[in-house]
Amino acid sequence: MPRAIQTAIWSRQAQWMLAQSRRRFGPMFSLEIAYEGTWVVVSDPEVVKQVFTGDPKVFHAGDGNDILRPLLGEHSLLTLDEAAHMSQRKLLLPPFHGRRMEGYAATMREIAAREIESWPTGAPYRLRPRMQAMTLEIILETVFGVHGGARLGELRGALRSFLDLLTHPWMLVPMLTIGPDRIRLYPPFRRRVDRVAALIVGEIAERRAAADLEERDDVLSLLVAARHEDGSPMSDAEIHDELLTLLVAGHETTATALSWAVERLVRHPDKLARLRTEIEAGEEAYLTATIQETLRVRPVIVGVLRRLTEAVELGGYELPAGVTVVPSIHLVHRDPTIYPEPDRFRPERFLETPPGTYTWIPFGGGVRRCLGAAFAQQEMAIVLCELLARRTIRPADPAAERPFRRAITETPRRNAEVVLT
Ligand code: HEM
Repeated sequence: MPRAIQTAIWSRQAQWMLAQSRRRFGPMFSLEIAYEGTWVVVSDPEVVKQVFTGDPKVFHAGDGNDILRPLLGEHSLLTLDEAAHMSQRKLLLPPFHGRRMEGYAATMREIAAREIESWPTGAPYRLRPRMQAMTLEIILETVFGVHGGARLGELRGALRSFLDLLTHPWMLVPMLTIGPDRIRLYPPFRRRVDRVAALIVGEIAERRAAADLEERDDVLSLLVAARHEDGSPMSDAEIHDELLTLLVAGHETTATALSWAVERLVRHPDKLARLRTEIEAGEEAYLTATIQETLRVRPVIVGVLRRLTEAVELGGYELPAGVTVVPSIHLVHRDPTIYPEPDRFRPERFLETPPGTYTWIPFGGGVRRCLGAAFAQQEMAIVLCELLARRTIRPADPAAERPFRRAITETPRRNAEVVLT
């Protein structure tokens, strides 16, 4: 197929295209995508393992995510490689580890409870926009450390309008055809990016001067206090790019995963009932399994990217430098030899067998594995608990919602429409 047609199908029907190609060509095949070049999609867990454990000097995720560079900046963790990536990742890891994460739980619970209480009952209601509002609020409080007041309102408004444009269903088409550099110059885009940048730089300046910096535990404060190996602080540009990265990587993804969790649960009343019973009994295992099964059967992102800096032998093929290898989350998760009856939503499967490192990959893998994986799963668990403690839920329409592409994420087509009581 000509590259333009492959690109058009990819940007609207990625899951269908992957499944068709897998059926026709086997577990490894190539796609030609405008702006991106040649992609080699892989779905055999052994090959996925080779990619995730491969030398980061050869498997460049930052170059693979190149399309995001003009939007997120030169210092973004997502777009860096090798030493620069490792040094930035070391600075960003501490806020996302164990004890800190527990500290964020109370904020997540409070925001979730407040948000859920405001939802109307007795009539069809679309949860996805509300999940977006909730995950944005959680990031504003835990990552940006902005609590209430006019500044919160201003930042919320600016980020919302930037994110809405970025995740517009048609955004991927211009991104892939004219490229992100020119999108960045498009006035409505530039205005939004500039406004967000000005507000973030203002927050950084304010935080650098804060007298209570030592006591604060939000990510921005931790980054302001963090030091490179040579003892130097992070620059404003570095902190700005990382905050934007955390926002873009962590907000829409988690809101989408939560929307799918509800979409799947309401269509499986027996699973929903079991989840409610187990949560009431203080058991966490089924809740964890439900989250894992949601991310398996409805992964938010269909694949991750690694651009080769030199020729590599993979799955019996010699792949040249410059090609992008794409471990397909969607195909690995739907492989019937790994997951019997792969289309069925059955959290029990993860009670029987825990998720495998290279067979359950909603967060990618290796040195590039999602930095916010624990944050996202904790947030999902808290929101689901708060929701089930307060409301009963049924689908507004019994038919399952199909995946709908919004730039990079695969969202429920009718925005997780439910009736709450
Ligand atoms: C359910 C929600 C989420 C999903 C499905 C998800 C998925 C992913 C995936 C697939 C990657 C690429 C991994 C790779 O290339 O191997 C990634 C990277 C990343 N994610 Fe997430 N993510 C989620 C939530 C979050 C949250 C809440 C944050 C932070 C607040 C976050 C921050 C990041 C960052 C910083 C990276 C780049 C890591 C690096 O390149 O070293 N994500 N995520």
